[in-house]
Amino acid sequence: MTQQLQAKYRHDYQAPEFSITDIDLTFVLDTEKTRVTAVSQVQRQGSHRSPLRLDGEDLTLIELQVDGKAWQDYALELGALVINNLPDRFTLTVINEISPASNTALEGLYQSGDALCTQCEAEGFRHITWYLDRPDVLARFTTKIIADKAAYPFLLSNGNRVDQGELDGGRHWVQWQDPFPKPCYLFALVAGDFDVLSDSFTTRSGREVALELYVDRGNLDRADWAMTSLKNSMKWDETRFGLEYDLDIYMIVAVDFFNMGAMENKGLNVFNSKYVLARAETATDKDYLNIERVIGHEYFHNWTGNRVTCRDWFQLSLKEGLTVFRDQEFSSDLGSRAVNRISNVRTMRGMQFAEDASPMAHPIRPEKVVEMNNFYTLTVYEKGAEVIRMLHTLLGEANFQKGMLLYFERHDGSAATCDDFVQAMEDASNIDLSHFRRWYSQSGTPVVTVHDDYNPETEEYRLTIKQHTPPTADQQDKQPLHIPFDIELYDGEGQVIPLQHNGHPVHHVLNVTQAEQTFVFDNVYFQPVPSLLREFSAPVKLEYKWSDSQLTFLMRHARNDFSRWDAAQSLLANVIKLNVARHQQGQPLSVPQHIADAFRAVLLDEKIDPALAAEIMTLPSQNEMAELFATIDPGAIAAVHESLTRVLANELADELLAVYNAMALKQYRVDHADIGKRALRNVCLHYLAFGEPELAEKLVTAQYHADNMTDSLAALSAAVAAQLPCRDRLLAEYDEKWHKDGLVMDKWFILQATSPADGALKQVRALLNHRSFSMGNPNRIRSLIGAFVSGNPAAFHAQDGSGYQFLVEMLTELNSRNPQVASRLIEPLIRFKRYDDSRQGLMRSALEQLQGLENLSRDLSEKIDKALA
Ligand code: ALA
Ligand code: ZN
Repeated sequence: MTQQLQAKYRHDYQAPEFSITDIDLTFVLDTEKTRVTAVSQVQRQGSHRSPLRLDGEDLTLIELQVDGKAWQDYALELGALVINNLPDRFTLTVINEISPASNTALEGLYQSGDALCTQCEAEGFRHITWYLDRPDVLARFTTKIIADKAAYPFLLSNGNRVDQGELDGGRHWVQWQDPFPKPCYLFALVAGDFDVLSDSFTTRSGREVALELYVDRGNLDRADWAMTSLKNSMKWDETRFGLEYDLDIYMIVAVDFFNMGAMENKGLNVFNSKYVLARAETATDKDYLNIERVIGHEYFHNWTGNRVTCRDWFQLSLKEGLTVFRDQEFSSDLGSRAVNRISNVRTMRGMQFAEDASPMAHPIRPEKVVEMNNFYTLTVYEKGAEVIRMLHTLLGEANFQKGMLLYFERHDGSAATCDDFVQAMEDASNIDLSHFRRWYSQSGTPVVTVHDDYNPETEEYRLTIKQHTPPTADQQDKQPLHIPFDIELYDGEGQVIPLQHNGHPVHHVLNVTQAEQTFVFDNVYFQPVPSLLREFSAPVKLEYKWSDSQLTFLMRHARNDFSRWDAAQSLLANVIKLNVARHQQGQPLSVPQHIADAFRAVLLDEKIDPALAAEIMTLPSQNEMAELFATIDPGAIAAVHESLTRVLANELADELLAVYNAMALKQYRVDHADIGKRALRNVCLHYLAFGEPELAEKLVTAQYHADNMTDSLAALSAAVAAQLPCRDRLLAEYDEKWHKDGLVMDKWFILQATSPADGALKQVRALLNHRSFSMGNPNRIRSLIGAFVSGNPAAFHAQDGSGYQFLVEMLTELNSRNPQVASRLIEPLIRFKRYDDSRQGLMRSALEQLQGLENLSRDLSEKIDKALA
């Protein structure tokens, strides 16, 4: 039985009928039964006589008072408390009970290990008390927490600690006050016993901010990097954006049970421990960089999200797209800009494009939402960040920063819309963004097709650029978009040909605004090799028929690192498309010699940044490869991926070994240059594992016993990918050493879930009973089940439908336990239209099975209904 799904529409927005200026919360904490008292100062807005409708779910009402007197004139509805005949201004007291221990959805107040913590975005506060749970109601919060002192020595909430005391029965209390009015999704409470890493930061105006990082007892040796990252974030936001922190204390708590990555609650971030804890033996270079990025992301939200928040949840990209853009810039300023750009583009091409072509396709500012949790998507976050990046490209850094200033001047302390942001950018720069705004309302990935024409006599070069956005599930008709299209032209020597027209210089970013447009350049003295969509200047699919020799030329000569990588990607795309077709016709792999030579040149290039070389040498993932095809053949893609690896491994064996040896480091340090060297060395090892068997076994076994996780895991993952004989022994060794450490075991689960070996599904099923696995922990679920369904396409899409049936079983359990996590897992199943008829049939019937579940969550219903519509 599906419940009736109520969709909300963006255009239905109405300002709140009541405001709440202050809320005074008291929690008497207990895992089974927590008592919440909320005293709110409420005011009617305008002259309407409507009742006050407060949101609330899974709450037990104890008492309701208005101005201190019991109030009987109310009704409890599904998801709401409706209070009638209220005065225009009053004090509302709501007393209710909740049960953190039975909260397996991890929304609202719940138990994480021995601690209690909250997650309120998007609509978790209504699981704590009845309230106007919408982001445009901003109130000053005070929070008093009462709890057993032995079990919960630390009692934390937003803002500043203003008072505390002891109570009888071994209890104590702490009171917090947040001076900044905020929506309730930014509320947080944490109670537990922790080790604390303390530090401080002096802002550029000279204010001292206390920094406190709370981790599970015994984990203090894994907290340093997160603290360093926090200080770097604070410094960077001052330097690059001129933004300072505004409270006297900034706290981060790491918890093991968390649905998302982290949460920017005012003054009290709650983090998935995955994005906090790291030391060399337990975390890889990638983990370190992810921690830096996420710590930065949540910190940057203090201005873009908290000081200026969202008017309604349709505007989520206002804070997320902008904050992802900011964290991308932070990572790029601190590390390698090119490598960061490459990684963002891989996410766009390998994952966001797929989402934008799926039944869940939506604009970065969605029009219609059933379950808001379903819209914390790559589209809102990553494509949202690409849209901000395009604004930055169109305006330039100086105008963009002027726009930010104006945005804060106008909207600080309030709830704003995406339009408000674009308006500030437009007003500050005097650049017309009316056409650009379509990026906010149009879904789908534009396809940009480029033709060129060179006339050696007149030295005229013409670029004809067409754009077309295919219809998406949510939207049939598409309009041309304003696309900043960054180009460069090279002559035969690799020199840049200046862009001119009628004697005037032309900017390298072309404004493509129409369905078809021709740009003419003169004084082009040589038949140019064009570098197109440089820096991925817009989130589009580019079609241009480069020859392989033009691409190898760009790999060598393009001035910017991103273009060199992108040329290599295009070259590989040609090989992959050719060979998937060959595989389907039963023909063997065919890789022209010049392909291997192009990659050889990268390995032999002494001037190239190792980090860039590593990226160029890394083949597109199977998911990235899949996006090259309208209909996806997972088996053929996996086969071509592996054969291509083997061919390159054999062709380049000597160079790979030479670079592998040359990149060896004496000791492990988290340093950007060293990270690049290790990346390149480990890519080489990956190929070497597919080469001469004896050497492979020897190198991999030796490196597995390195003193740091980056190298150990690279060795183990090479062993699994190449199915080396040492694999099982090393996996067992890892298990023995790390089985008590969930985060470290996640890597082990992922490796096995994504293994190319036959019987991966059988192994995944067996691992469901592993001592380190738990269905209650989202990180474990994502590492084992999530990695299998999303990261092992060949096994998940097995022709007998076994992968789909496995997912049905898992979702049947998770549907009631944790709908948010379930809803993320189902994604590969709803995208059935991309597969052949037989798989489509199996996937559809799997979805129909799920549709028949009793108490199907809103989260899953929304996706299944869309898919089967
Ligand atoms: N608002 C949370 C974040 O993205 C989920 O940072
Ligand atoms: Zn965010």
